[in-house]
Amino acid sequence: MKQMMSAIVAGLASLSPLQAQNLPVYLDEKKPVEQRIDDVLSRMTLDEKIAIVHAQSKFSSPGVKRLGFPDLWTDDGPHGVRPDVRWDEWEQAGQTNDSCVAFPALTCLAATWNPSLARLYGESLGEEALYRGKNVILGPGVNIYRTPLGGRNFEYMGEDPWLASRMVVPYVQGLQSKGVAACVKHYALNNDEEYRHQVNVIVSDRTLHEIYLPAFRAAVVEGGAWSIMGAYNLYQNQHNCHNATLLNKILKHDWQFDGVVISDWGGCHDTDEAVKNGLDLEFGTWTDGLTMGATNAYDMYYLANPYKRGIEQGRYSTKELDDKVRRILRLFYRTTMNRQRPYGFLCSESHYEAALKIAQEGIVLLKNEAVKRKEEGGKRREATPVLPLNPDIPARILVVGENAIKMMTVGGGSSSLKAQHEILPIDGIRNRFCKATVDFARGYVGDTVQSYNGVTVGRSLYETRSKDQLIAEAVEKARQADVIIFIGGLNKSDYQDCEGHDRKGYELPYAQNEVIEALVKVNPRLVYVNISGNSVSLPWIDRVPAAVQGWFVGSETGTAIASVLAGDVNPSGKLPFTWYASLQQCGAHALDAYPGTWRADHKVIDEEYREGIFVGYRWTDRLKHQKPLFAFGHGLSYTTFKIGKVRADRRQMTSEDKLTLTVEVTNTGMLAGAETIQLYIHDKRSAVERPYKELKAFRKIFLQPGETQPVSLTIDKAALSYYDEATADWKVEPGEFEALIGSSAEKIVSSFSFTFK
Ligand code: BGC
Repeated sequence: MKQMMSAIVAGLASLSPLQAQNLPVYLDEKKPVEQRIDDVLSRMTLDEKIAIVHAQSKFSSPGVKRLGFPDLWTDDGPHGVRPDVRWDEWEQAGQTNDSCVAFPALTCLAATWNPSLARLYGESLGEEALYRGKNVILGPGVNIYRTPLGGRNFEYMGEDPWLASRMVVPYVQGLQSKGVAACVKHYALNNDEEYRHQVNVIVSDRTLHEIYLPAFRAAVVEGGAWSIMGAYNLYQNQHNCHNATLLNKILKHDWQFDGVVISDWGGCHDTDEAVKNGLDLEFGTWTDGLTMGATNAYDMYYLANPYKRGIEQGRYSTKELDDKVRRILRLFYRTTMNRQRPYGFLCSESHYEAALKIAQEGIVLLKNEAVKRKEEGGKRREATPVLPLNPDIPARILVVGENAIKMMTVGGGSSSLKAQHEILPIDGIRNRFCKATVDFARGYVGDTVQSYNGVTVGRSLYETRSKDQLIAEAVEKARQADVIIFIGGLNKSDYQDCEGHDRKGYELPYAQNEVIEALVKVNPRLVYVNISGNSVSLPWIDRVPAAVQGWFVGSETGTAIASVLAGDVNPSGKLPFTWYASLQQCGAHALDAYPGTWRADHKVIDEEYREGIFVGYRWTDRLKHQKPLFAFGHGLSYTTFKIGKVRADRRQMTSEDKLTLTVEVTNTGMLAGAETIQLYIHDKRSAVERPYKELKAFRKIFLQPGETQPVSLTIDKAALSYYDEATADWKVEPGEFEALIGSSAEKIVSSFSFTFK
């Protein structure tokens, strides 16, 4: 195929004017793409059209060979380019040239609150994809974080529709600037993993439009995404890969999406619905043919022979087929047929730098206090907070916890990678604190699996000692240590941060709580580093002076964590979700609205989103007296900031106006650092119930010690509106609003009242 394309390209270059006149329109780059598509369509046979609307292998679909269109190669996504798999299987193919850079998981990207890093992420990933010959990256994921048990939250961008929207747009644009399509997933309402093929989500229109759709809409309307992936679950009793409302009405009609709807792998269940309800390209169907190993398994796909037969027998016209083919051809012209695409690079220095930078900006300093002195009844505190740890002091550092020695880029489902390297936390700490004595105690045994689909990495985690022996060893070493760094949290195994299931409970798994309790009894100077894409309960947090959210940050994990602990990097990440003290603080759980109720035939489980629009901090604000452990938007720094009084350019606003709010921000500490100014809107009176406040703008600002800068945030009427079910449209009510400015959902420092007329 490559040869055929080169021949065509070489041929084009040396055309005489006469030959150029005979150039078919579909190959003429001077002609508008839509005209070229018309031309190809008119040349394609029914078989060729049917062939391009379904897969031919696990991750590829055919082009149109006769006309010189190469095959289309997709690949996961979203944190790096997945290793090649065998033609028909999930098992890795065993290539030696498909190791990649593992970028931080998307929760970490969201925690940077820095859209320019999302752009860098997309561009870097696009270059890796190009080198690997992938035309569509199956990501990013923007399903809203509804419950902290959600198995795939680590692949998404948090609980807030505005934050996720601002971060997804540059990711998509960065990726596509390289001629690689984003496939934004999982559209829509795939907010937990348990029974994901059977869950029928029941949700109000208002909730759908205010909470669960905005990030998808932004990716499509603002980001210009070239493809989108239907979700496994159902909505309105119809699978989302062929859901008339979500695909035909909202995506293709209302948002004018001109790209390709790709099914999630095995998410297509019905030819009739797939033909009529907006699915364009079918992947991963687990047909009888496949289980029986038939050689023509792909012909049995819903959009393969059954579709062709339907057309031949007159059950379907070719109207829908031509629309699907047109969209796929458009995707070809944007990717495989785009000769302006740049070249790709795999594992380049710039990609590692990008991965490290995103990790360093996403890591969140949750808590940082001075240690309470034991000898004075715990009443007096030491002078300085525990972090950062001075790397120039030859201290005795004890690292405890399995996550210090466990590879996290392998596992978790489809986002699993074959990273060229992954620096473990223990190695990062040893490298950075080379003047210290760094000892290690495992403390507990969690999950010793270190492989996924044939990719096996890491040192052996095999362990024979008993739980008590492991705790005893850690405690003994802790007595001698100046500081303990506990690296724990979740991992990428089943029922943890992993596709296919949710967590079974909110607690830290294995014996971690026991180990931490035992450690702080003998040495209170403990820094807890949590590795996860989700919040977990931290019952001992009052007795631990410092805590860091370390996410899953990929190739540069150890370096990134150590740089934050040592203070080389001043942490500036902010939580993209509310960190509940207990599960009952989360609306979905407080209302017993998860995982749903099985119908009598046990085929479908109805999950009613009873908390409605009150997701995350929107729910917390309703609880009033129940503070979460850490609020949405929370994240500390090694320096301090002062946010001044907010001023605005007007007191009254109309539909035509924009309102600009400005605050002076000063770095009042001794270190350079970054603060994220968050603007929430509060509607003082409304005909409908509204969340107390909603994030509508933010800006991250970097300041030198003593430096002051103004930060301006601009909103328009969209920031004041809610989705009105009666008119099926967004609506702003005239009246009084308040702009609340702060550094987290809990820390509002200044407000400004204004009127909308
Ligand atoms: C996942 C998708 C993924 C696809 C291909 C599915 O199981 O839900 O997110 O892109 O597999 O690996």
